[in-house]
Amino acid sequence: MSSLAKDDTAPPAQQRLPGAPVHVGVIMDGNGRWAARRGLPRIEGHRRGVEALRETVRAAIEFGLDYLTVYGFSMENWNRPVEEVADLMGLLKRFIRNDLNELHKGGVKVKVIGARDNLKPDIRALLEEAENITVRNTRLTLIVAFNYGGRQEIAAAARALAQEVAAGHIEVTDIDEAVFARHLDTAGIPDPDLIIRTSGEQRLSNFLMWQAAYAEFVFLPMHWPDFDRQAFLAAMAEFSARERRFGGVPGQYGKTLADVVKT
Ligand code: FPP
Repeated sequence: MSSLAKDDTAPPAQQRLPGAPVHVGVIMDGNGRWAARRGLPRIEGHRRGVEALRETVRAAIEFGLDYLTVYGFSMENWNRPVEEVADLMGLLKRFIRNDLNELHKGGVKVKVIGARDNLKPDIRALLEEAENITVRNTRLTLIVAFNYGGRQEIAAAARALAQEVAAGHIEVTDIDEAVFARHLDTAGIPDPDLIIRTSGEQRLSNFLMWQAAYAEFVFLPMHWPDFDRQAFLAAMAEFSARERRFGGVPGQYGKTLADVVKT
């Protein structure tokens, strides 16, 4: 296994250029097709997917990204064959057991979003351990969306708010976007600026439904196991060439990173 921090020292983060993304979300798609193309079992694709995830975390640190959210297991993924679900659970456990130390040394704070109640107790305990050990780290926040669904997250927030209203803690008129966002799993985390999806599919698949309202999207034809540092940097460059208007008019939000690099 390659380490996140060579020689036990954390890699120096680059100065992030103005206009670069703060938060990137990644839909790590295509593990199964990557494996099938090589005549390998699907689990091999997922294993190689974990390697690609490691390289992406390293690239994100080097780039100076603040938040990286990866879609590890959706609530809909329970519909996969039981063996594959077990393999994915096993990979998550191994990822945390093997990589937690390196993530911690590299200054990575781990946060897990998604439902915990129907996960096995050993997985729940590992997720909590990863969060607790790394809670004070500040270099990069790695948000693992596991047993996560955007619609379910929004419904849970609505339920929590309804309970607060019913209990008389808040008024219906107090509920606005900011209050709602504070009831999501991502409370306190800025919305993703960019969402990358591999494998050529062009959809959100219930990933960060609320938070992605103004995200830019980069869809890549490569399957996730082939994603690497170069692909990450190319996606950052693609983002930098976009002009984000947030419903405003051209030029309103200043220069893009591409403009800054050009001048
Ligand atoms: C999509 O590929 C990928 C997943 C459903 C799981 C992603 C998981 C990993 C990269 C490894 C484990 C995760 C963590 C957080 C350690 P697919 O299986 O849908 O591929 P296909 O569409 O080609 O079948």
